[in-house]
Amino acid sequence: MKIAIVGSGYVGLVTGCCLADFGHNVVCVDKDEAKIAALARGSVPIFEPGLEDLAKANVAAGRLTFTTGLADAVRAAEVVFIAVGTPSRRGDGHADLTFIYDAAREIAAALDGFTVVATKSTVPVGTGDEVARIIAELNPGARFAVVSNPEFLREGAAIEDFKRPDRIVIGVEDDRARAVMTEVYRPLFLNQAPVQFTNRRAAELIKYAANAFLAMKITFINEVADLCEAVGADVQDVARGMGSDRRIGSKFLHAGPGFGGSCFPKDTRALVQIGADFGSPMRLVETTVAINDKRKAAMADRVAAACGGDLSGKTVAVLGLTFKPNTDDMREAPSLDLIRGLKNLGVRIAAYDPQGMEAAARILTGIRFAESAYDAASDAEAVVLVTEWNAFRSLDLARLKSTMAGSVFVDLRNVYRSHEMERHGFRYTSIGRPV
Ligand code: UGA
Repeated sequence: MKIAIVGSGYVGLVTGCCLADFGHNVVCVDKDEAKIAALARGSVPIFEPGLEDLAKANVAAGRLTFTTGLADAVRAAEVVFIAVGTPSRRGDGHADLTFIYDAAREIAAALDGFTVVATKSTVPVGTGDEVARIIAELNPGARFAVVSNPEFLREGAAIEDFKRPDRIVIGVEDDRARAVMTEVYRPLFLNQAPVQFTNRRAAELIKYAANAFLAMKITFINEVADLCEAVGADVQDVARGMGSDRRIGSKFLHAGPGFGGSCFPKDTRALVQIGADFGSPMRLVETTVAINDKRKAAMADRVAAACGGDLSGKTVAVLGLTFKPNTDDMREAPSLDLIRGLKNLGVRIAAYDPQGMEAAARILTGIRFAESAYDAASDAEAVVLVTEWNAFRSLDLARLKSTMAGSVFVDLRNVYRSHEMERHGFRYTSIGRPV
């Protein structure tokens, strides 16, 4: 099939590369000329395990191309995916749909022959209706169908998630579009991946409801972790006991510094707004957002408390900056709140991250970016493990301790065990576990 992907960001690129790998003829479109030129040379601008190799292989096979020319790409396509960003609108938390509607207008002008326009971006309920209205208004003769096909990829595991999905959700309003989308995902149908056809509005809502539920699950265990600290229980034991009930499930029950990233914070806020717009409040989600914001902001005080109070003029080493491992994405990362909070307490920061330092340097000023975890820890009063990169799971603890001025280790991801840390002379605290 001939497929055009409008928007070559994270979702667009992963979708484009994977669909090309299924054997489709894919062209990825973006307005950013430098990005398209780099992609055409085989250089993928984001860090996602396996993505660059997949891009190179499919470019070499002639199935994947990149262009800034939206009109030609759309004209030739049987399916056009919209994969542009839907950031939070400043002020009210609504999803900003400017890029979606701009794309719809440009696509409308270029449509030729029956074309399925499928939205991959996370969009509020009713957006598909509006995209269809825009296209019909601007190009009354166009033959098209608008489909909602949300993605459920996790950064760091995106290719695996695309090729072995828990489910594919396709919101369609007519049989012809259903047949086209079946063809797009044929290799997955053959692998018996669960495919759920539903209507467009349900598909749009499934995406938000799923993300909000996961965010709520994390927030629940984070509050249970606080309670564990108060009552003297271990949150990992509690999570294990809860998670082995198959109705609950063990995933997303890892207590930590609060959720971040490009999806959960933005999507929970947007779902609250959708509820308000339709007069059907999403109170649990609203509370989740508030608790999570507060939790991220409280991490600096947690570090200060672990150090016994005044940290002014002292150095704290921050290990891990990205919102989770295996990505270079810094969006709404808990490290940002932590570092801002520590700086307000007069702390000097030395930070190290295996992939995120470039992105972090664009956001954070006045901190030292270190060469390694050990370099960051040098002369530090405390080390704070914020992101559970594999590299931080097997630190040479004796070496780390010997470079520090103090001995505090705050483990916000429960990577280590207290007895081994104490054996190395650390004053160790973690999340929701007895000291
Ligand atoms: C999330 C969803 O997991 C994907 O299914 C979805 O497709 C994606 O958003 C999206 O909407 O595009 P992602 O943001 O890449 O994926 O990352 P997650 O692995 O879900 O982690 C999100 C945040 O929750 C991270 O800050 C992570 O550290 C935190 N988290 C996750 C926890 O604190 N505890 C957990 O048990 C799990």
